[in-house]
Amino acid sequence: SKDKLWGGRFTQPTDKFVEEFTASIDFDKRLYHQDIRGSIAHARMLGKQGIIPMEDVLAIEKGLNEILQQIEAGTFDFSISLEDIHMNIEARLSEKIGEAGKRLHTGRSRNDQVALDIRLYLRDEIVAISAYLDMLIDALISQAEANLGVIMPGFTHLQTAQPILFSHHMLAYVEMCKRDKARMEDCLKRVNVLPLGAGALAGTTFPIDREHVAEILDFSEVTRNSLDSVSDRDFALEFIAAASILMMHLSRFSEELILWSTSEFKFVELSDSFCTGSSIMPQKKNPDVPELVRGKTGRVYGNLMALLTVMKGLPLAYNKDMQEDKEPLFDTIDTVKGSLKIFADMIREMRINVSTMRAAAAKGFSTATDVADYLVRKGLPFRDAHEVVGRAVQYCIENEMELKELSVAEWQLFSGKIDRDIFACITLEASVNARAATGGTAEERVRMEIERLKAGK
Ligand code: ARG
Repeated sequence: SKDKLWGGRFTQPTDKFVEEFTASIDFDKRLYHQDIRGSIAHARMLGKQGIIPMEDVLAIEKGLNEILQQIEAGTFDFSISLEDIHMNIEARLSEKIGEAGKRLHTGRSRNDQVALDIRLYLRDEIVAISAYLDMLIDALISQAEANLGVIMPGFTHLQTAQPILFSHHMLAYVEMCKRDKARMEDCLKRVNVLPLGAGALAGTTFPIDREHVAEILDFSEVTRNSLDSVSDRDFALEFIAAASILMMHLSRFSEELILWSTSEFKFVELSDSFCTGSSIMPQKKNPDVPELVRGKTGRVYGNLMALLTVMKGLPLAYNKDMQEDKEPLFDTIDTVKGSLKIFADMIREMRINVSTMRAAAAKGFSTATDVADYLVRKGLPFRDAHEVVGRAVQYCIENEMELKELSVAEWQLFSGKIDRDIFACITLEASVNARAATGGTAEERVRMEIERLKAGK
């Protein structure tokens, strides 16, 4: 098997199915750009250090750039028997430029090479995901701003709890997205470290200059232990963990949008372009996009569990098991980017139904807490106030009334402290606007939050 880059030690060819089973080229070919970029940086460093001749560096760079163009033009022939992207590119380079190509791998191993490629790849993707999060944040803020003043019911246990502003609800997701973004950016610090130079596991006998490679490739640090450099996939796990939390947020939001789109709720109308019909029921408009995002969350959690499980029993340093890191990582990146992109557009185009939301907020005794707070201001201890209002609610249920329909005489059946001023305190607006401390749903407070967010704070 002399066509293999490691053929020297072997006398028998690889079994055909073993070759297929062990190959990663089908999924790691997407690292081609990072692989070439990393190799060029490595070659330049080897040249600068006098480890390989400068003319070889030039030949390598030219050859690799031609390969890059071929791959991008779709004319590069990937071979399964060359196992992965690293060996596909290196073998082609040697075919093209001979001796010089065979010097490229000096002082390097595929183990530090693959770690480098993944880090380069993930680094760009985190930046892209961060930008998608910004798009979603912008869409949410626009909705919050355009609909400021719209009142909806807030829920606990999915039971009407207290009236809130629709904008307040949108800004809750902005806060989640901002934390997701911060988690991504924090993860980036651990991703942006150069592993190249670790060799197979112990370092290299050549006088390499790792800091120089880090500079060319724009890494902020170099790794400090060669064993760790080729064994560490924490950075990928951390990313998938942050992605899982992000998807959990999108999934909860999806669930609300699905619920709000039902004819029972009718709080929002998703744009037709984000829904599908039914092949049998002519009246249907199904919220496929949020349903799929909710469903895809499971795939990302699965990816996290898959990679944690791959890593959990591995002795130092590199083990072939680690080739299984790529599919869950890539799938997570694709899923998160797709979900964020479609969500941002969907939120931007979402129409809201102001009157249904308001009508729903007026039901379910949503201002009962305001009556209790009113009684507290009149001197009643909160627990006693709670009891008084509970009895008033019971009375309303029995008589099929809302709290605002009770007369002063009726209120006074429950407490002599209640007077005409109760009416002004249990309107939806009064209830919302009374919650004016930092983080509350009062319109003035929400307006301030929108301003703060728009100022990028
Ligand atoms: N295709 C391998 C991977 O994805 C590259 C590293 C292989 N190293 C090795 N010694 N087999 O992890």
